[in-house]
Amino acid sequence: MFDLIVKGGTLPNESVTDIGIRDGKIAAIDDLSTAEAGEIIDATGDLVSPPFVDPHFHMDATLSYGIPRINASGTLLEGIGLWGELKHVMQAEEVKARALEYCDWAASMGLLAIRSHVDTCDDRLMGVEVLLEVRREVSDYIDLQLVAFPQDGLFRDPTAYENTIRALDMGVDVVGGIPHFERTMAEGARSVTTLCEVAAARGLMVDMHCDETDDPMSRHIETLAYETQRLGLQGRVAGSHLTSMHSMDNYYVSKLLPLMAEAQVAAIPNPLINIVLQGRHDTFPKRRGLTRVKEMQAMGIDVGWGQDCVLDPWYSLGTADMLDVAFMGLHVAQMTSPEEMRRAFEMVTEVNARIMGLKDYGLQVGSKASLVLLDAGNPIEALRLRPDRLCVIAKGKVIARKMRNDTSLSLPGRPASVRRRHPAHSR
Ligand code: FE2
Repeated sequence: MFDLIVKGGTLPNESVTDIGIRDGKIAAIDDLSTAEAGEIIDATGDLVSPPFVDPHFHMDATLSYGIPRINASGTLLEGIGLWGELKHVMQAEEVKARALEYCDWAASMGLLAIRSHVDTCDDRLMGVEVLLEVRREVSDYIDLQLVAFPQDGLFRDPTAYENTIRALDMGVDVVGGIPHFERTMAEGARSVTTLCEVAAARGLMVDMHCDETDDPMSRHIETLAYETQRLGLQGRVAGSHLTSMHSMDNYYVSKLLPLMAEAQVAAIPNPLINIVLQGRHDTFPKRRGLTRVKEMQAMGIDVGWGQDCVLDPWYSLGTADMLDVAFMGLHVAQMTSPEEMRRAFEMVTEVNARIMGLKDYGLQVGSKASLVLLDAGNPIEALRLRPDRLCVIAKGKVIARKMRNDTSLSLPGRPASVRRRHPAHSR
């Protein structure tokens, strides 16, 4: 007897099976046609995926687009300046309301684990307090991991170090940083060393905004890989963005990537944001704003896709849909072979979960019963359509349902018909 059975779903590996759920966990993945359950959801051959995971987001800034004004130049630096105006006048209630609204969007899209940076360059630490509350309030359905992020520079901002330590003492999970925004390359490297030492002393993970610039001489990822090895942090460190790598000299990159692989440093590009923020100082040819995704993967480096921003000082769009993120990423990185597209889907599920260190994630017996039913037949079709999430299950409970969205066609000279969005499998 199960609490819930999801019948006849196509797993990401394209096998068709039933999933039995009991006490919030996956209790069986098998032919359960004779089993009983409190509820049976017929997947009719549609894709059943583990939930989407976003390893890079800013929940303290989300849904604030246009307050107090929009980013006219579209650059990272104007975005940071705009956020600097906003963060000192925001009230806790509005930040919390926006964060919770975003979590509702995420839940409806099957995005059930999020790593959010939270700005620690604010003596009030209001964003930290709010997001700790939000982490608690959404914990039945979203795993929210918080990164202490000294947005204005660990050394460039006079109280950033002290406030970052305070945030970690309050229960923030991960150590962040922004070495390319410190005053000099040397100060940036020193910030990487200092923050990695803080993480090592506290047994925490590290996730730094690293080299988010088109300057090929921004090489803080090298220091990050070095400190990871020196301090024994292998497998617990990620470099977010790494856009300078796009413009680096090829010879230098041929040395850098093996160093990252040895140190087991993961990479988190954010394709929606990188493609709009980077290259803004170029005329033509204009550089793509993305790091070397396939090249790092070929070296065995974990590369996930992050979303970074939705409706905030840096990005005027966004929907909490990690399939939008993967869709943009596979275009900009030219990951268009079937194998590469399947990998692009894994990057917003399995790989992101691994980078975040999520426990009990995935579709196997004993894991948390969190999964998403999509109106698509397989991962590649899901990327093509970015389809409706027909059902979202979090820790054994159905938290979102959506009706199938087929189109009724009434074309001149043709009988009325229904156009299904994905013809690749039959129900
Ligand atoms: Fe970011």
